[in-house]
Amino acid sequence: MEKKQTLGVMAGSLRKQSFSRALGHCLGALAPEHVTIEELPSIGDLPLFNQDIMDETGAPTALTQLAERISAVDGVIIISPEYNWSIPGALKNALDWLSRLNPAPLAEKPVTIFTCSPGLLGGARAHPPIRNVLHALDCRILARPEVQITQIKAKMAPDLSAVTDSATAEFITQRLAAFSAFAQRG
Ligand code: FNR
Repeated sequence: MEKKQTLGVMAGSLRKQSFSRALGHCLGALAPEHVTIEELPSIGDLPLFNQDIMDETGAPTALTQLAERISAVDGVIIISPEYNWSIPGALKNALDWLSRLNPAPLAEKPVTIFTCSPGLLGGARAHPPIRNVLHALDCRILARPEVQITQIKAKMAPDLSAVTDSATAEFITQRLAAFSAFAQRG
């Protein structure tokens, strides 16, 4: 029997109707039985990074709450679009804040990157910059195969409550199982 695990989801988009966030909400239904999927506190509650905030008033509450949940989960799944061929600013901001904590909650944490987009590339160009930042934070990254969900609008229910494309659902289930095994290897 597999050990029970909790994997946290961090979305790289803040908008209410975000495909990335919606995909995160669908992962629970696609994960192996022993895996619980938890939505991490929103990165949208963090101020823009400014070291003065840390030095003068300490870590913002939104940061300590996010860090606590990251420390508690067994691995983190980042689901993000690409913005202008790169990492969305809100996600970079969150990773910068997290990197300033000691102990750093993402250090040695198993992390995997999913990207998605309504377009044909599935956010592929966000993988290298996100991975680069995660390397700087000393995360354990599940590198391959990269998860890029192309044309996501056509693969989800109109209300974004489920992944309706069976091949995509199966692929995500396989990748969640692979990430769960990777995170369990310690
Ligand atoms: C985009 N989008 C986009 N798409 C893409 O394939 N390559 C890109 O470089 C960009 N750049 C980009 C920049 C900005 C500022 C925005 C707002 C959008 C389109 C993007 O993939 C699309 O809007 C997604 O739906 C955004 O993800 P969420 O919010 O649905 O998760």
